[in-house]
Amino acid sequence: MVAPLKVGIAGLGTVGAEVVRLIEQQGATLAARSGRGVRVVAVTARSKAKKRGLDLRGIGWVESPQALAEDSNVDCFVELMGGADDPAFSAIETALKAGKSVVTANKALIAKHGLRLAKAAEQNGGALNFEAAVGAAIPVIKTLREGLCGTSVNRVYGILNGTCNYILTRMEQEGLSFEECLKDAQRLGYAEANPAFDVDGHDTAQKLAILASLAFGTKVAQTAVYVEGISSITPEDLRAAEELGYRVKLLGVAVRTAKGIEQRVHPTMVPKSSSIAQVMGVTNAVTIDGEGIPPITLVGPGAGGAATASAVVADIADVARGIRATPFGRPVDSLRATTKAPMERHEGGYYIRLLARDHAGTAATIARRLAEQKISLESIVQRHRNGSDVNGSTKKASPVPVILITYATSEDAVHRALKAVQRDRVISGRPQVIRIEKN
Ligand code: NAP
Ligand code: HSE
Repeated sequence: MVAPLKVGIAGLGTVGAEVVRLIEQQGATLAARSGRGVRVVAVTARSKAKKRGLDLRGIGWVESPQALAEDSNVDCFVELMGGADDPAFSAIETALKAGKSVVTANKALIAKHGLRLAKAAEQNGGALNFEAAVGAAIPVIKTLREGLCGTSVNRVYGILNGTCNYILTRMEQEGLSFEECLKDAQRLGYAEANPAFDVDGHDTAQKLAILASLAFGTKVAQTAVYVEGISSITPEDLRAAEELGYRVKLLGVAVRTAKGIEQRVHPTMVPKSSSIAQVMGVTNAVTIDGEGIPPITLVGPGAGGAATASAVVADIADVARGIRATPFGRPVDSLRATTKAPMERHEGGYYIRLLARDHAGTAATIARRLAEQKISLESIVQRHRNGSDVNGSTKKASPVPVILITYATSEDAVHRALKAVQRDRVISGRPQVIRIEKN
């Protein structure tokens, strides 16, 4: 009879508390499936006194994450505190150097220190598992690392942040404000401790950098990802998108191009009829385009305690089974460097919302500046401030929103045209620009 795997958990918040519960509830099933019992022997968090609704009797309390990582009674160190640096980083490195296995849901840390930690895992024989770091319950790491290890991937993209998709969905469907939706996402345990990581796109960028490494054999490099978040998206953009047959989603896209691997995160207008547009609320979706096979799409809950605990416990079960997968699918030393995507070369359609001064010649000036950059328009909608279009009866002297949808063009051309329009002083404020992806 093999002795149970002794697990130490650092962090008992939204995710950590659910992991303790799930191991308790699924103990017998886990033992049957992994051929070995799994037992939580020690935990730590910031406050020992905090009420957590957990029965921690029989589980040791250790004073710090570092002490837990050093605890000789712990075989598998589970890090669920968050934060790209210490105490998580040093504790994980200590555990790996002691030959222990590590499970973490911490994408910020894996995106920043994943290579160094993977090297420590490779050298000392422990596992470094981070399935929950991307897409919470969706087994996308395993899919790329193991399921598709014989397939050449050309593109991996999708909705990788539950908080942003939840916010955009509720703003669109219920007309709620950005702030109200963010508050709810925090209350439900979806958002990061600092929600700016979610709404500014950094959380998606960290996840995308991890997926790109697994898909393309590149070094994880968050700095190579172009990032834009959703905080500039207004209810007006969502309404306009709806009327024009689109939805706005925060997408992460990593694609093989002739010039290297392009990685980008930005709000994107997708056709309402597309499958990605149907992904609502906290749900995430990742599509993988592989050579010679139709696209594979994985869809599931992308945040929340229970969803994330599901992946953490699966990673622990792999450790119990004795599986020691190479963290990034191949030795760290064989991963290739990658560089930042030059977005000015990006080609596609664009949604442009301008606040045009309401006087004769404005529309002609805008059209001329676009034509100078050889930008063709698929549609143009001009409204008066009360929402009626140009044919409506209301006339006001204040600026009026003008919405343009372009055919495919380069980002550079769009920027040059808009700079010229700003110089012409026919618009006020900053133009809103959202990229359109049709497939
Ligand atoms: P959380 O609710 O804020 O919980 C963090 C836990 O870590 C708390 O128990 C906290 O202790 C403990 N902690 C923080 N700093 C510590 C320190 N210096 N020393 C000891 N303990 C410390 O966070 P979470 O939502 O569970 O997220 C945990 C990790 O999972 C993060 O890396 C996050 O990115 C990742 N993740 C979260 C989700 C999600 O939906 N929430 C999904 C996927 C991945 P106290 O309780 O005593 O304050
Ligand atoms: N804050 C993250 C999200 C948690 O909303 O997607 C899951 O990684």
